[in-house]
Amino acid sequence: MGSVSNLKIDLVEVCEAAARACAPFVGSGQKDEGDGLAVDAMRSRINKVKMNGTIVIGEGAKDEAPALYDGEKVGTGEGIGVDIAVDPIEGTNLFAKDMPGSIVTLAAAPAGSMYQPGSCFYMDKQVYPKAARGKIDPEAPIADRLKQLAAALGKDVAELKIFILDKPRHHAMMKEVYAAGAKIRLATDGDVNGAIQAVLNMGSDALFGIGGTPEGIVTACAARAMGAEMFGRMAPQKDFEIELCKKEGIDTTRILTRDELITSDDCLFIATGLTSGAYVRHVKTGHDTYGKFMTTDTVVLDGGIGNIRHVQTTIHV
Ligand code: FBP
Repeated sequence: MGSVSNLKIDLVEVCEAAARACAPFVGSGQKDEGDGLAVDAMRSRINKVKMNGTIVIGEGAKDEAPALYDGEKVGTGEGIGVDIAVDPIEGTNLFAKDMPGSIVTLAAAPAGSMYQPGSCFYMDKQVYPKAARGKIDPEAPIADRLKQLAAALGKDVAELKIFILDKPRHHAMMKEVYAAGAKIRLATDGDVNGAIQAVLNMGSDALFGIGGTPEGIVTACAARAMGAEMFGRMAPQKDFEIELCKKEGIDTTRILTRDELITSDDCLFIATGLTSGAYVRHVKTGHDTYGKFMTTDTVVLDGGIGNIRHVQTTIHV
């Protein structure tokens, strides 16, 4: 039987192709144009990958943005069955404004191993580094969780930095974090970026808060690939979404574990930088003696073999 891990170079090329296609729109103030180009390039490259792939969770539905759609068959149809979660541009506002933290991201795992959230577009997430795995009670009050995290990391609570999206829905939680003595790294957008900072111990010690469900599934693959910790609760925000979730019988009270969100260790998380970030660089365009080139920087977290790989690719265009 094949392994999803073996597909990594092909799937890196899928993300690189999307990054090169939308790069001209970084900082252009136009997010949908870039998103459309990234989606088209991703679709075109992913359909050349030798796999029987299905997009189980695409992005776009909550914002009516361009998307690879849920249930779309991708790949050549041969070989291993693969569940794919994608976000062709994660952090579209950051992309349009050339602010840090925008990436192309894709996660892959064996068919049937990714949680399918139905019509629930938002998830309440907790992401912690590997050292905290099994040491956090996800139901505990924030002050207690911060103490548990500090103990797991050998830090004082005052040394903890929690990544939180700066949204009105998080203001009460932010007060609790400050009251407990921890610090907050705020961002307007991009909770995958925040989660990966926590998973890789690069700038944040945890991610708390409600963000997109596709981003949550992609994050779960990253957390599992690196042995890190994650919890997710379906948290519909919009009225129509709340109604749909009720109809579909989605339990919005239960906290799902990382291994319920993604049930296989053979999972990949891939992110290519669009704007600058803590763990990937800005996509770059330049000229040399061979003509115009584009350079992409990608990180691959591979649960199949448990490693982190950085891939820098230069292509003359
Ligand atoms: P987009 O790439 O779709 O713009 O998502 C950016 C983002 O900040 C995600 O990182 C996060 O999960 C989600 O939006 C939060 O959604 P909202 O902005 O609707 O609260």
